[in-house]
Amino acid sequence: MNMTVYIAGNWKMNNSPNETEDFMTNLGQFNIDAKSYGLDNSIKAIVCPSSIALERASDKKPAWLELGAQDSYFEESGAYTGEVSPSMLKDFGVKYVIVGHSERRNIFGEVNEDINKKVKKILELDMIPILCVGENDTEREQGITFPVIEIQIKKALWGIDKNELNRIIIAYEPVWAIGTGKAATPEDAEEVGSYIKEVLANIDQRNGEAVPVLYGGSVNPDNIAGFVNMGNIDGALVGGKSVKSDSFVELIKKVSEII
Ligand code: PGA
Repeated sequence: MNMTVYIAGNWKMNNSPNETEDFMTNLGQFNIDAKSYGLDNSIKAIVCPSSIALERASDKKPAWLELGAQDSYFEESGAYTGEVSPSMLKDFGVKYVIVGHSERRNIFGEVNEDINKKVKKILELDMIPILCVGENDTEREQGITFPVIEIQIKKALWGIDKNELNRIIIAYEPVWAIGTGKAATPEDAEEVGSYIKEVLANIDQRNGEAVPVLYGGSVNPDNIAGFVNMGNIDGALVGGKSVKSDSFVELIKKVSEII
């Protein structure tokens, strides 16, 4: 079993500021004893709200819940209409930033070069990038999952100091599994998780091995334990089933039963 298990909720474009406040208020009603659930040291629970709901989340969240953002631009300030800078996120107490989610890549045309700049900037500001990688359906059918992921990782991490490597989290999110209800099997996730750790260890043995690898794609309270039980999967990045407080709490409970 891994030392720390991450349960990170990617809310995507869900939960307005008011709904975010309701989420936090409802969490209070579950009477979560952080210590008995392992939330004081063995489980890290994170939510990534929309950037306009971050302030409310930060004000209302319980101490055991950490904050992440879903994206960030790579410039600090300037004429970039519609964008949010990493230091603006940091102001709200954001500790993690999702980078390179497949929705950003596929819907908004983000490319590896953008992702690389974002990773660098987030590290520079002492936040932790959660770098998403994963193959699509066609790539999987063609049997090129490993090379696709290796290229995504190497391009995203290009030029990063090897000593910074252990401050990154990787989320393996096969595109065909996201929001489809068709999760990968824990064994498949483990195989790719182990490959990702190999790629990272080849960049730098000591720091590469320390990088947590999460699985994402149709994770729910019934299947999360299967993934987390795998030696090379250190947690989950959860979309749909993280948006409502009851199901988010269920994810935590299911993991706390097996750690
Ligand atoms: P999902 O999304 O859990 O709804 O499949 C996961 C993600 O996109 O991070």
